Amino acid sequence: LRTIAKRRLPHGVFDYIDGGAEDERSLANNSSAFGRYEFRPRILRDVSDIDTSTELFGRPMSMPIVLAPTGFTRIAHSQGELAVARAAERAGIPCSLSTMGTRSIEEMRAAAPNGEQWFQVYTWRDRGLVKELVDRAAAANHSAIWLTVDTAMLGRRERDVRRGMTLPPKIGLSTLVDGVIHPWWTLDFLRNDPITFANVIGLSDEDGSSAVNLAEHMARQFDPALSWDDVDWLRSIWDGPIVLKGIQTVDDAEQAVAVGVDGIGLSNHGGRQLDDAPAPIALVEPVRDVVGDGPTIICDGGVRRGSDVVKALALGADAVSMGRPYLFALGAGGERGVDHVLDFFRDGITRTMALNGVRSVDEIDRSLVAAAR
Ligand code: GLV
Repeated sequence: LRTIAKRRLPHGVFDYIDGGAEDERSLANNSSAFGRYEFRPRILRDVSDIDTSTELFGRPMSMPIVLAPTGFTRIAHSQGELAVARAAERAGIPCSLSTMGTRSIEEMRAAAPNGEQWFQVYTWRDRGLVKELVDRAAAANHSAIWLTVDTAMLGRRERDVRRGMTLPPKIGLSTLVDGVIHPWWTLDFLRNDPITFANVIGLSDEDGSSAVNLAEHMARQFDPALSWDDVDWLRSIWDGPIVLKGIQTVDDAEQAVAVGVDGIGLSNHGGRQLDDAPAPIALVEPVRDVVGDGPTIICDGGVRRGSDVVKALALGADAVSMGRPYLFALGAGGERGVDHVLDFFRDGITRTMALNGVRSVDEIDRSLVAAAR
């Protein structure tokens, strides 16, 4: 799907999705770290019935995957978050809407009335705006809030820097050429309503142009003074589960539990923020050892196969979360592409469970994986 997306999407769009911070070592390591674990498969156990379902925060899901919040989703395909929400509802898993999303909270709920939806916030300088978003998410029956905590400043994504990435893409000579050689994307872009930050009004550049320079915009909105007090503040305005997204050490996971968050989101933002950050999969076991059985752990970063999902669970996670797989799927084939990638993961989880001799998510335990020899 990544290969097809690369062919179909303009270079700048593909690189925005595919790229990471600085030398992209976190990005590469997130995936390759899964290879440091191998299975301890058990044989001759009747695996004729495999059940991949589980629950998170008391809500059922058909497999242990949450679709991560991603910014600017509509640059991959005009339907954007609506296609993702419908596919996730069909698949029976939660999907998330980013503050930097390109469909509104209300549109997304209308597209998938019975789907599990989570909303993602940053604690922006404008707290009134954040509260308004959280209230709207509650009104739209969202079941959890991600608070992203790894973005005091935007990471330096050098592919975007080199291309002068703006959203929506500014039309210049190079974008024109790019558009002509990627007609599928260009027609989809031109035939549909303009891409905007659908949840947030007034996010155009100060000169009023609708093309927003990503780094400048983020620099204006992100609050580098973000601290643990802000978690308390979010707690005071939202009754449901809060997952801190971007925990990267055992100490911070402990502190998150101490301040009463419900979920620990082990993440380095898909390698898009701090380069040479720890691979989230490597943190799962040490964090679980310290926080005990109670807190929910969700691990994201480099999950590309069902076997990665099973490894994360064996090490102690309750679920994984992923962004690029469904963005590549959207770019490659729109909503059908997202259905396809979710089927691919469901098949992969089922097969990995069968080949390891486990029948249910409850049976996936620490004995299933070890350090690769
Ligand atoms: C937004 O969160 C991004 O990583 O681009």
